[in-house]
Amino acid sequence: GAPVEVDISKLEPGQMTTVEWRGKPVWIIHRTPEMLESLKKTDEKVADPKSERKQAEFPPPDGIDPETRALKPEYMVVVGICTHLGCSPTDKFKTGAESGVDPDWAGGFLCPCHGSTFDLAGRVYKNKPAPDNLPIPPHVYLSESKILIG
Ligand code: FES
Repeated sequence: GAPVEVDISKLEPGQMTTVEWRGKPVWIIHRTPEMLESLKKTDEKVADPKSERKQAEFPPPDGIDPETRALKPEYMVVVGICTHLGCSPTDKFKTGAESGVDPDWAGGFLCPCHGSTFDLAGRVYKNKPAPDNLPIPPHVYLSESKILIG
């Protein structure tokens, strides 16, 4: 598949957009300072906090920060396919009881198929069927507001 160019200039903080790359949904989220702060809380609850496990299909780009899992902390770029059996998790950005996930929920994603949960860096929570973090696709910044995926 061809690389996909994404203009992120209109993506407001807290918003997410989805593009298709090689037939897969790629999520781009403009993370707010609060969203980035929430990663410190989820650090001890996720299975692979520093993303040390190898990604199965393709390596992440060089230069990824292991904790925010991004080239630029404010933009999360991940493949939105559950690493368990391939369902598409839904976004649950609301925190706590409002999210409908659990009162301690710090925001992230919930897979409707078997209940795996992911934080706002796509890191999988422990004790859930999904084994791995959501993969980061190869990508580069062409400019401040343009990302090339693939
Ligand atoms: Fe997502 Fe099973 S496919 S939890």
